[in-house]
Amino acid sequence: MRYKDLHALSVDNPRFFWRQKMNLIRWFKEPDNVLVEDGDGLFRWFKGGELNTCYLALDYHVDHGRGRQVALYYDSAATHTKRRYTYRELRDEVAKFAGVLRAQGVGKGDRVIIYMPMVPEAVISMLACARLGAVHSVVFGGFAPHELAVRIDDARPKVLITASCGIEFTRVIPYKPLVDAALDEARFPPEKVIVFPRPQAEAAMTGGRDLDWHELMHAAEPADWVPVAATDPLYILYTSGTTGKPKGVVRDNGGHAVALKYSMKTVYNINPGEVFWAASDVGWVVGHSYIVYGPLIHGCTTVLYEGKPVRTPDAGAFWRVIAEYGVSAFFTAPTAFRAIKKEDPDAHLRRKYDISTLRTLFLAGERLDPPTYEWLTQVLDVPVVDHWWQTETGWPIVADPMGLEPHRIKAGSASFPVPGYKVEVLDDEGAPVEPGRTGNIVIKLPLPPGCLPTLWNDTEGFKTSYLSAFPGYYNTADGGYIDEDGYVFIMGRTDDVINVAGHRLSTGEMEELIGSHAAVAECAVVGIDDQLKGQVPVGLVVLKDGMDVDVPALEKDLVQLIRREIGAVAAFRKAIVVARLPKTRSGKILRKTIRRLAVEEQIVTPPTIDDPSIIAEIRTALREHRVGQYADLPLSEDDAEGI
Ligand code: COA
Ligand code: AMP
Repeated sequence: MRYKDLHALSVDNPRFFWRQKMNLIRWFKEPDNVLVEDGDGLFRWFKGGELNTCYLALDYHVDHGRGRQVALYYDSAATHTKRRYTYRELRDEVAKFAGVLRAQGVGKGDRVIIYMPMVPEAVISMLACARLGAVHSVVFGGFAPHELAVRIDDARPKVLITASCGIEFTRVIPYKPLVDAALDEARFPPEKVIVFPRPQAEAAMTGGRDLDWHELMHAAEPADWVPVAATDPLYILYTSGTTGKPKGVVRDNGGHAVALKYSMKTVYNINPGEVFWAASDVGWVVGHSYIVYGPLIHGCTTVLYEGKPVRTPDAGAFWRVIAEYGVSAFFTAPTAFRAIKKEDPDAHLRRKYDISTLRTLFLAGERLDPPTYEWLTQVLDVPVVDHWWQTETGWPIVADPMGLEPHRIKAGSASFPVPGYKVEVLDDEGAPVEPGRTGNIVIKLPLPPGCLPTLWNDTEGFKTSYLSAFPGYYNTADGGYIDEDGYVFIMGRTDDVINVAGHRLSTGEMEELIGSHAAVAECAVVGIDDQLKGQVPVGLVVLKDGMDVDVPALEKDLVQLIRREIGAVAAFRKAIVVARLPKTRSGKILRKTIRRLAVEEQIVTPPTIDDPSIIAEIRTALREHRVGQYADLPLSEDDAEGI
């Protein structure tokens, strides 16, 4: 069936469509219902079904002739280590670690927090939880102790798993002190902490609480998988919302397995036995879906790469990995290629490697900007596919479905809604807009399998955040348009979320933190366009009257505050003290005006502005702090001294 007909069928008759697709995976007990709406108004896929996600990812393949196939290549450019695990070896390691967790009292429904770098033990931990029906929550290593503590208190884990350190380029970042600080802050710390020791850093262990990974593994009895309900949670993944409280996106077992299996062929056009590589991090949704679960459920070989696109050791790192492991489909964020392009604009290093196995390049995490798309199409002779999704959906919403029917690509568009998603554009009042007109991108309910059924312990929050703005629709909080040919263009968030180097962050949370400083009266944090990272946060700060402070010192303090509380990943480097903020006559801060002032020579002064003279003041402040278009201004002598 052609894409158009299949898509229409999937949204007109989702029960029929997904009843067929559910047979893509092995059920221990078939679902009683394909889709039901529960009493609490939530949609549930495959209710009554029983399965085990770890079984699907590992044991199923061992039992069906893939035991000797490589399941996972570990390539650490950071430590110059390479290792491979066959499906059998990975299954055995996971079963053993599941035994470790079981011996610590972890069972079905218990939460386990994983705060780890890109080492195979992170994947083993995730799969071991899935094996026991425990619910993992992976926290990205770039988050500070406070962020980890917030997640601990929301998830209330029985066990936390960590490693002694992560490695950023060549810098060793000890993780254990961060974990210890988080546990000191948390109100509901776990009883046990399992530490995977790495030779690059030693971890200080707390007797009675901290346990050594190797010692536990040595003594462990393997644990078998346990059947879980399709609607049981597989994991919680916290993501940035508009406030300091992250949203605990829940992923169920059944819908997730079916959707990922379906996406591997339909979107990524990859076959069992082939090598799939997502250069992301297990701390993000891309890592969950397309480093771990998707490729393994599909019987592929996945690559776990611990390194960066550049300087580990050079801008040829990605080409090397593709060549070395025979990668067929590669997925990363555009920011990674902008970093490569900056260091190797003519892609000389690409010619050093035979990357003829590569059939398709996929990009997501932020919009694939047309200049990066053009560069990639010149460097590569395979399709370059932008596709759009969110932590909440867990798999692509809009993509060119490469395994179904590839289309002509339009630069700047992520192409078409994937079967299962009915994507529409509505104005702020909820009325459909004409093709080509920008509005709120929404998805008609029910969301397809794999998407979040709710938020962890917060069904009301789920409804308020996503379902209340446009009744009958899921509000993606992305803005954009659909053109007359049906191509979807995603142009940016409509809320206080920004995308920094493919990482999703909340400016609202940064504002809350800065606003908590004793000297600060009010502030605005905005995402300024950045050539490398897509966006970077910049804070404009107004001081309380009568404050006698050393302004440069305060600006530095505020930068440190964000780094300490959220983490280095926030990439918050500029806090600028100003006399006042641009506001409307009704007192609303004009954040969009600040964003535009930073990157545009001329802007039209908004008619609602309270006092137009403030435009010049803000522009001067942005110039003095070399923000946006002023970033490359020559340094004054004073500045140069400080560097
Ligand atoms: N553990 C600890 N610290 C981390 C971290 C981790 N896992 N990940 C990032 N950080 C730190 C970095 O070291 C850096 O710290 P610094 O301010 O002390 O230098 C800070 O967080 C910001 O990191 P990042 O935004 O990644 O910038 P970078 O300059 O280190 O690297 C890129 C820039 C473009 C090379 C890098 O961001 C990249 O490869 N991005 C790909 C994005 C991606 O994979 N997205 C996932 C969605 S597909
Ligand atoms: P995350 O939940 O971290 O995956 O971030 C999701 C957000 O990233 C989306 O809401 C978008 O704002 C942005 N995003 C992801 N992929 C794309 C894309 N292909 N095009 C445009 N924006 C994207």
